[in-house]
Amino acid sequence: MSSLDLTHSGKVRNSPIRPGVGTPRRYAQQHSRSHPPPPSKGEQDMKIGIIGAGNIGGNLTRRLTALGHDVQVANSRGPQTLSALAEETGATPVTVEEAPRDAEIVVVTVPLKAVPDLPSGLLDGAADRVTVIDTGNYYPQRDGRIAGIEDEGLTESRWTARNLGHTVVKAFNGTYAQDILDRARPAGAPDRIALPVAGDDAAAKQVVRALIEELGFDTVDAGGLDDSWRQQPGTPVYGLRADVEGVRKALAEASPERGPDFTA
Ligand SMILES: NC(=O)c1ccc[n+]([C@@H]2O[C@H](COP(=O)([O-])OP(=O)(O)OC[C@H]3O[C@@H](n4cnc5c(N)ncnc54)[C@H](OP(=O)(O)O)[C@@H]3O)[C@@H](O)[C@H]2O)c1
Repeated sequence: MSSLDLTHSGKVRNSPIRPGVGTPRRYAQQHSRSHPPPPSKGEQDMKIGIIGAGNIGGNLTRRLTALGHDVQVANSRGPQTLSALAEETGATPVTVEEAPRDAEIVVVTVPLKAVPDLPSGLLDGAADRVTVIDTGNYYPQRDGRIAGIEDEGLTESRWTARNLGHTVVKAFNGTYAQDILDRARPAGAPDRIALPVAGDDAAAKQVVRALIEELGFDTVDAGGLDDSWRQQPGTPVYGLRADVEGVRKALAEASPERGPDFTA
């Protein structure tokens, strides 16, 4: 297993979040000198559905609510299990079916093996031209063998898009969940890191890049979904904390071969 296994290495198997960290007020206190003020209510606030409330989904819920977005969040066990996160953040706990309702952005952040189990027609109630963010990574040890990826050679996000019946934008998949809370910096800060973003829909990709920049990170256009192997587990950019130039260089140095840790 690679040391960059963000999900399973003890180093980054984060959460529960340190008590108090990540609440909107605490975040504002911690970042009051280094983070720009959130956008004023009503200008850029969006309805965002988050499917998966674990390491990544939980921290995106924390930060996106702190920025003033209207977040509805779901997990596999039901909204009654999300009361602590809801109380902490002000997000609305919902069922998986309800999470995309009227959402302009839907984040799918579940283990890959759970993607085929998501309800069919999941995105039917979402806003027109909904943007879907896929944070997923394929770990055969966790997800079992996925033939579409291993035999057909689909990129992980192409496989997810096919399962969802909707194109996706690949983002956050190589980002340590804790970095979503701890590494946000204002635009222009010397230590602001960049995240690669891949997708076929240029408008959706732009929506995601703007959201990530609002969250406190630069972005790099990593191409379309068929190019997104460049940011999958085991690649140089996976888990990299670097600026725009560093991320571009790492994407360019990637090899399409899946390493032995990432095949079954
Ligand atoms: N951890 C990281 O640092 C990291 C970084 C980048 C990308 N990723 C990738 O992002 C994805 C999510 O990772 P994670 O670490 O956040 O996972 P996680 O902590 O294990 O959380 C997974 C979440 O998905 C929910 N879930 C599972 N099956 C579901 C289903 N059928 N319907 C609805 N919700 C379901 C779980 O709900 P329950 O708890 O109720 O079962 C849980 O809230 C993975 O593909 C991972 O590889 C992780």
